[in-house]
Amino acid sequence: MLSHLLHLDGIDSVVIETKSRQFVEHRVRAGVLEQGSVDLLNATGVGERMRREGLVHEGLELLFNGRRHRIHFRELTGRAITVYGQQEVVKDLIQARLDAGGEIIFEVEDVRIAGFDSDRPVIRFREQDLERELECDFIAGCDGFHGVSRHAIEAGILNFYERAYPFAWLGILAHAKPASGELIYSNHDRGFALLSMRSSSITRLYLQCKPDEALADWPDHRIWEELQIRLASGAAFRLEEGPIFQKSVTPMRSFVAEPMQYGRLFLAGDAAHIVPPTGAKGMNLAIADVRLLSRALKAFYSHGTSDLLAGYSRSCLRRVWRAQHFSWWMTSMLHRLDGPDSEFDHRRQLAELDNLITSRAAATNFAENYVGLPID
Ligand code: DHB
Repeated sequence: MLSHLLHLDGIDSVVIETKSRQFVEHRVRAGVLEQGSVDLLNATGVGERMRREGLVHEGLELLFNGRRHRIHFRELTGRAITVYGQQEVVKDLIQARLDAGGEIIFEVEDVRIAGFDSDRPVIRFREQDLERELECDFIAGCDGFHGVSRHAIEAGILNFYERAYPFAWLGILAHAKPASGELIYSNHDRGFALLSMRSSSITRLYLQCKPDEALADWPDHRIWEELQIRLASGAAFRLEEGPIFQKSVTPMRSFVAEPMQYGRLFLAGDAAHIVPPTGAKGMNLAIADVRLLSRALKAFYSHGTSDLLAGYSRSCLRRVWRAQHFSWWMTSMLHRLDGPDSEFDHRRQLAELDNLITSRAAATNFAENYVGLPID
C-alpha cells in the first residue's frame, strides 16, 4: 500500500519481501475493512475487485443470553464496513504495483538494515544467492511483528507497552453458506465465538480456545459442535456446516512500540503495534499508518519540509491507542475470563452488553469505533 501511494506521488520505492508471492497472497487473515480503508483503496484506483466481491455490512449482531441484538452502523454513524479478506487486498495491491512497473523482490533472505541514523540508510539482503545492497533515502519497516526493522533499533531507544491474554482464537474457513448476513459476536458461558464470512458460500468462524491449543484436539465435528452451541440463538437458528478447508490458531496480544521512528527508519503496521483480533483493526491501522507516511514523504520530496516526518509517530499513535483501547475493550467484553473473579466478570460483561443495546449513546460510541475514524 505504501509503495502504491508513493508511486502515485511520483516517488520510487522497492518492496523487499522474504516470503513468496504465492504465500503472501494466500495467508489468511481478518477480513473487515473500515470505511476509511475502503475509501482510500477506491480513491487510489485499487478498489475495483473489492467493490465487486466485497460485502458491505451496515451493522453487526451481538449475541448474549441466547439472543441476538443488532448494532446499526449506518444509522448511528452514516458509515459501514466491507468484508473482504486481507489477502485479497494484498493480491490487488501486488497486481497494481506490478502493472505500474513497480519493483517487488520476493523470497529474499538474510535482510539487514543499517545506517538509518544517517542520510544514507542501506538494506543488505540475498536474492537467489546473490548479495545485494540497496542504498536509500528512507526505510519503511512494514515487516510485521517478527520482522527485522524494529529489532534493528538498538536497545533503550524504543519503549514497549504490552499485554498478553490467556486465550486465543481457533479460526476456520468452510465451504458453507453463512448462517447470517452479518457478523455475529457471541459472549457465551463456554467462551467467545464469532461468525463471519468471505462470500455467499464461504463462512469464516472463530472460537475462543487456549493459547497452546493443539489443532489435533479439534477434529471438524468437535469444532462444529462447539460453534453450534456458542452461536445458538433460538430454535430456528442453525449454522450450516460444510467442509473445513483452513484451520489455525490466532494468538492474542496488545503491543505498542514508541516512537514509531528512529532516524530514517519508519515503522508501520504490525512492526510497531499489534492488537488482539476482536474488531479486526490490524490491517486498518497499517493502512492508516502508511497513508500518513506517504503524505509526509511527499512533503519532504516536493517542498523539502520534514515536519510531517517528524510528527509521523505522534500522529499514528493517537489512532493506534484509540484502536488499542477498543480492541482490548471488545476482547474483555466478549471472552470468558477464567479465574477467581470469573462469575463477577461474566455479570459485568452482560451489563456492559445490555448497556450497548439499550443506550443509543453507548451503541454510537461502539459503532464509531468499529467503522473507524476517517483517514484524512
Ligand atoms: C473477522 C476477523 C475479526 O477479527 C473480526 O473481529 C471480525 C471478522 C474475519 O476474519 O472475518
